[in-house]
Amino acid sequence: MAGNWKMNMDHLEAIHLVQGLHQELTDANFDYTKTEVVVIPPFTDIRSVQTLVEGDEMGIKYGAQDVSVHEKGAYTGEVSATMLKKLGVSYIVVGHSERREYHNECDKKVNTKARVALDNGMTPIICCGEGLEVRKAGEHVAHVLKQIDGGLEGFSAEEVAKSVIAYEPIWAIGTGEVATPEDAQEVCAAIRVRIGELYDADTAAATRILYGGSVKSSNVADIMAKEDVDGALVGGASLEAVEFSKIARFD
Ligand code: G3P
Repeated sequence: MAGNWKMNMDHLEAIHLVQGLHQELTDANFDYTKTEVVVIPPFTDIRSVQTLVEGDEMGIKYGAQDVSVHEKGAYTGEVSATMLKKLGVSYIVVGHSERREYHNECDKKVNTKARVALDNGMTPIICCGEGLEVRKAGEHVAHVLKQIDGGLEGFSAEEVAKSVIAYEPIWAIGTGEVATPEDAQEVCAAIRVRIGELYDADTAAATRILYGGSVKSSNVADIMAKEDVDGALVGGASLEAVEFSKIARFD
């Protein structure tokens, strides 16, 4: 269960939120061995989250929302994988639809960023998903599978099995319009089948596939009940400790 905070929360708010989340999960006797809980704050909050999580041995993990394709040097505004690794980051979101739309990130770039994450010992959360027009035209599965083919290009079976895929239909992001559990299952299942075709059945079974798009505590259980949905990538509802802890428990 991963919470993508997007461009929300300064470092003080981040501390408050992670402490609150930890408290909620502790009160609920949360079993971190069954479900991984990941917060994905803006870069400016990562150090604060690290000090909390390390010091307290919380089960909560944390990620970054992006990574540079460059190792180091004259790339103003960029943050490297080495820097993130040093801060104890476990996951890196790549190819989020907001990066694709506002920063022109194509499948090739997404693939390179995922490669950079893996080469530096972190897990990429590779996002894919279709816009409303594509969905209305009934081309959503083909569209997503093309993103998957491009995103995973050159990866070994072991690398894919370690990676996380997040299916996020763009029309359901931040709109309150959640895809039905059947919509989520249809595409997540198609992604798993494709990984099976590109690699093998074991790799397809091992790869974690998340759904994202207006997930809340009130709809998460139905989505999680679907066979090929292994977790959720949550935006707005991850900004509130009680709500996100309920989502993590999906009860
Ligand atoms: O990455 C998570 C995301 O894009 C979904 O956002 O606010 O619809 O849960 P939201």
